[in-house]
Amino acid sequence: MSETPESGPLLELSSQDLRAHVAGALTRARARSVALTDAVDDEDLIRQHSKLMSPLVWDLAHIGSQEEQWLVRDVGGREPLRPDIDDLYDAFQHPRADRPALPLLGPAEARAYLREVREKALDVLEKAPMSGRRLTESAFAFGMITQHEQQHDETMLATHQLRQGEPVLHAPEPPRAPSGRRPAEVLVPGGRFTMGTSAEPWALDNERPAHEVDVPAFVLDTTPVTCGAYLEFLDGGGYAEQRFWSAAGWAYRQGHDITAPRFWHREPDGWWRTRFGVREPIPLREPVVHVSYYEAEAYANWAGKRLPTEAEWEKAARFDPVSGRSRRFPWGDEEPAEAHANLGQRHLRPAEAGAYPAGQSPLGVRQLIGDVWEWTSTDFHGYPGFAAFPYREYSEVFFGPEYKVLRGGSFGTDAAAVRGTFRNWDYPIRRQIFAGFRCARDPRPGEVA
Ligand SMILES: [Fe+2]
Repeated sequence: MSETPESGPLLELSSQDLRAHVAGALTRARARSVALTDAVDDEDLIRQHSKLMSPLVWDLAHIGSQEEQWLVRDVGGREPLRPDIDDLYDAFQHPRADRPALPLLGPAEARAYLREVREKALDVLEKAPMSGRRLTESAFAFGMITQHEQQHDETMLATHQLRQGEPVLHAPEPPRAPSGRRPAEVLVPGGRFTMGTSAEPWALDNERPAHEVDVPAFVLDTTPVTCGAYLEFLDGGGYAEQRFWSAAGWAYRQGHDITAPRFWHREPDGWWRTRFGVREPIPLREPVVHVSYYEAEAYANWAGKRLPTEAEWEKAARFDPVSGRSRRFPWGDEEPAEAHANLGQRHLRPAEAGAYPAGQSPLGVRQLIGDVWEWTSTDFHGYPGFAAFPYREYSEVFFGPEYKVLRGGSFGTDAAAVRGTFRNWDYPIRRQIFAGFRCARDPRPGEVA
């Protein structure tokens, strides 16, 4: 049992190449932040499109504020630019619902602030040593800030999905699934595997350390659950029958009158959905998205299955039964390429179930990375030996039974912000995120050799 001995490509780079890599990653993140915020007018940037979300202009200046605090002040040791706004953009000080009432920077001011911070951060990148401190080892702080900006870019994409009005975002369609029959499920053999990482330079504290976990044999769907399959559950009365739902799930379903995935609506001619302002028929072959954990759990019960645990998900995604090694991604150790996964907002929807054959795991499980975040049945907690870094509020304060772990990233997630070990978490009632799921089950007698 071991983790990949090669610890990701970053460690092999010269200091100059590492700086160039970081500059490229920061620039790509910024291009996306700019595209998502230039797509709407100032009024739209200031407006709160949903109580669940910040105004886009808050996200924008918050991105700059974090970059200023970590890269300019901490790593660079430079003078603060705007210490007066630290508090305004501290996510822990102000819940999202309250943010529109704050004296926020306006769109022009926020954009100018972002440019000023970036100029200084790139100067720090040129001059700061990339070793000597854990925060700068392999440019960790720059990696953390890149991921942070990309995470807010996904959050801003979710805000776009909640926004009313004419479509403003456009992207080409994702690839179709290749034709031909594939198995719907695979057996993942039982035994130990290495979960988490101690080697990935830009992995966050909650992904660490690498540790061995014994996962008994289980059966996993080879693709996420599709809208077509979900529609059978819905049309079959899945939302009406309490027996499929956990107690908490049923209370939520009743209390909020949940009767279909978010953004779905029933019309006289069937079910439709709205996606980034476009009304369209439900795409039957596409993974279902915008379902809560509770809906995923109810579907799995209806199907006679269950949701995978987080360890099962990661084993299916990383374990190579031939070498016994845990890989960085389902397809191997290489960084995600376009053929591997639907990532990076290249497409504004999940690809059909069964797409991306080049990205499948050794056991033939597809779309573990990209397309939709996948709910797991596991509560968010620290791995054995967890140590908060660089601050407790990154993950530790969220550990506990209120949050469920999601894995794998969505079409809205950038490659810089997802890995085979990457862990996301959210409340089980959340539906505005790009989350779907796949099912697992215990093997039947005779299925395990
Ligand atoms: Fe943030």
